[in-house]
Amino acid sequence: MRKIVIEGGSPLKGEVTISGSKNSALPILAATILTEGENTLTCVPNLTDVITMLKVLRSLGIRSEYCHPNRVKIWVNGKVRHVAPYQLVTQMRASFFVIGPILARAGFAKVPLPGGCAIGSRPVDIHLKGLEKLGARVRMEHGFVIVEAPRLRGNLVHLDFPSVGATETIMMAATLAEGKTSITNVACEPEIVDLADFLIKAGAKISGAGTEKISIEGVKKLKGVDHAIIPDRIEAGTYMAATAAVGGEVLIKNIVPEHMESILLKLKECGVKIEISGNEARIIKNGNIKAIDIQTQPHPGFPTDMQPQFSALLALASGTSVIRETIFENRFIHLNELKRMGADVKLEGRTAIIKGVKHLSSAPVVVTDLRAGAGLIIAALAAKGETMIDDRESQIERGYENIISKLEGLGAHISLAGGQK
Ligand code: EPZ
Repeated sequence: MRKIVIEGGSPLKGEVTISGSKNSALPILAATILTEGENTLTCVPNLTDVITMLKVLRSLGIRSEYCHPNRVKIWVNGKVRHVAPYQLVTQMRASFFVIGPILARAGFAKVPLPGGCAIGSRPVDIHLKGLEKLGARVRMEHGFVIVEAPRLRGNLVHLDFPSVGATETIMMAATLAEGKTSITNVACEPEIVDLADFLIKAGAKISGAGTEKISIEGVKKLKGVDHAIIPDRIEAGTYMAATAAVGGEVLIKNIVPEHMESILLKLKECGVKIEISGNEARIIKNGNIKAIDIQTQPHPGFPTDMQPQFSALLALASGTSVIRETIFENRFIHLNELKRMGADVKLEGRTAIIKGVKHLSSAPVVVTDLRAGAGLIIAALAAKGETMIDDRESQIERGYENIISKLEGLGAHISLAGGQK
């Protein structure tokens, strides 16, 4: 049982370097299935989710090798198996991203329907409707999604919702389809642009990534490429929110400020001092945190993946904040745990009303999902006393590379209970 122990109250000081983006690395790893030859990915975050995705690729007959904790080589030659293993896909729903690339390469794919998770039912209907638009026949069989298309054909695809995953699935599949594809109402997240950059380097013809409309001209094949993964804007935002909650002064290195404008704006609205210089941001907490209102939105709006971290921060603000979660139907589970630490929060449907308190106090808490865990770490760093965070499913290491040593490096009193690894 993985337990994280935090003695709260120490301001954070020093500097921290941000790792590569989990939510960019995962679709790009899936996209290597479309290529022929050797791919070298650098700035790959060393996370359990990345290791799981490499296992999925291996199960498809694709060889990979870690040449360094953050550099991975992937060789794709000839035939690729077209059935993704049940236990891996259910372990990490992002494994579902392989369906588009396998279909485009092999004309057939059989991938388990990913389950829901703590934050929502996480359907994949938009992914499948898009693949059907490209000419795929889609059917369900014993919990597996089976998609077939001897050759995908370009088409106009309009997404019911700007789903990140569906945008990625359809964009990847369309790179090898015959003719032109135009996808509208797409997600504009930086991770979509990074995936498009990888595919363009491999020979794909894509324009408009990062805008509401992506156009793709299908090509016959793609080659292996070298690519550096962009920095993780959510990891960066998490350390910024931690500094704002606990106090201190931290230099956050290896960021792309343009990727996190909404996060920076909200931190400034809270009264946090931020000095940006190139790919670094100095975060200085001076005075009390002001209460603010937040509504999560698709990019460039405020990201849902930063909502739990700001819930923890605003639990300590002077005044009452209102957070509206518009992306996932059940992403306030962490509020129950924050209440156990003394937070004054009320939930009305998808709206949380958070009345700031003078301080939080330690309490045993449980991690329900990756970003909820990040929120609890922030609360524990700010709370008085020693907090035991029960991360029984090791959720936090799925998305935060070396978080214990990074926080220790900033002066936090944090460790794994019983010297676990
Ligand atoms: C990606 O998930 C991210 N994961 C999530 O990050 C992130 O929270 C989410 O995008 C939103 O930004 C990865 O990139 C690996 P969506 P994804 O499809 O693609 C509904 C983290 O903590 N929907 O944009 O699954 C869905 O239910 C994770 O790093 C459909 O209805 O998110 C949700 O309500 C958590 N049908 C909304 O759209 C579909 O076919 C947004 O989901 C697809 C999605």
